[in-house]
Amino acid sequence: MDKPTILITGGAGFIGSALCRYLVQNSLARVVNLDALTYAANLSSLSVLDGCDDYFFEEGNVCDAEKVDELLEKYKPDGVIHLAAESHVDRSISGAQTFVQTNIVGTSILLDRSLEYWKKLDEEKSERFKFHLVSTDEVYGSLGAEGLFSEETAYDPSSPYSASKAAADHLAMAWYRTYGFPVVISNCSNNYGPYQFPEKLIPLIMLNALHHKKLPIYGDGSNVRDWLHVDDHVKALWMIWDEARIGEKYNVGGGNERTNHEVVLKICSVLDELTDSAPEGGYKSLIEFVIDRPGHDSRYAIDASKLEFELGWEAEENFESGIRSTVSWYLANESWWKPIIEDKYSGERLGL
Ligand code: NAD
Ligand code: TYD
Repeated sequence: MDKPTILITGGAGFIGSALCRYLVQNSLARVVNLDALTYAANLSSLSVLDGCDDYFFEEGNVCDAEKVDELLEKYKPDGVIHLAAESHVDRSISGAQTFVQTNIVGTSILLDRSLEYWKKLDEEKSERFKFHLVSTDEVYGSLGAEGLFSEETAYDPSSPYSASKAAADHLAMAWYRTYGFPVVISNCSNNYGPYQFPEKLIPLIMLNALHHKKLPIYGDGSNVRDWLHVDDHVKALWMIWDEARIGEKYNVGGGNERTNHEVVLKICSVLDELTDSAPEGGYKSLIEFVIDRPGHDSRYAIDASKLEFELGWEAEENFESGIRSTVSWYLANESWWKPIIEDKYSGERLGL
């Protein structure tokens, strides 16, 4: 079969840019990247694709139905992978409306326009078409000390971010049940890796440490996240678009549960080893426990067995080597993160 054309939304963000690079560099798809270029976007994360015949960038908003129609008509994609979103919990606490607009309204507009486009496709193209909504494990809310999120876990979101993502998931599933629109949803745990905007825990801690600034841990640091390297996530995303059963949900996670305190200590010890500029007492002497995030979910952990058994996906990176390579990447790529901390966000506390 010919290489498919995929409309990726949010492809200038952290995960979207990794997906664009993976698909184009491995000749898996022709990629059209629709991105509104919000604060979280960074076109320099995609500079390796400059000049590639199979890559097209289009600036635009998923809430703009006319723009979406124009791109569907122009590129005639074989599917959509929808990542565009406001993605940071703390920002959603400071102001929820852009989350409602992009994550809920934007998703409904993209679903509507894609449905109209899909209805007009010939039989072969229509059967192949899939709309993949990229979602989060945060829709399930918080776990206690035991148990894992499965695809059957009831939705119970805590933050404006996770509530807006939960709403988007419900809309997508409604488009499947009501219109027979070929939707698939994936719910992934916390990602880390190169090119992540330094508002999220791992890059924030790394860059604060390099500047000998305090390393803020919310509450007592006992909250648990299940960390997955972004490259493992994008492989799962592609498998799911390519092979999954429509109308299904798939959890994605690497089984790397760590408390936030453990994550920060790990980053500090790798930095102690890889740099010769540690403060006296090592980077961990910069740790500061700060007032907790409102509504802070205590634990996320994923059961990814459906994805593993049905599609044969397996996480390749373990947390220890993944953190080490990520720290090394940030050390070697100051030219990527320096403009961000100078012009966009310099690490101040958000969401109080
Ligand atoms: P990100 O914040 O790094 O990037 C989001 C991208 O979407 C940016 O390039 C931004 O410009 C674009 N965008 C925002 N609003 C838009 C709009 N209205 N129209 C078009 N483009 C718009 O996010 P990320 O961390 O790469 O996450 C991508 C997706 O994966 C999101 O849907 C998120 O909910 C989901 N997810 C993220 C994680 C994680 O750990 N980062 C985990 C699971 C799921
Ligand atoms: P974050 O990277 O914002 O991802 P999410 O909220 O989607 O899980 O935060 C990861 C965890 O780290 C979360 O429990 C909140 C905590 N955290 C801190 O302790 N300090 C920080 O400065 C940040 C940004 C997060």
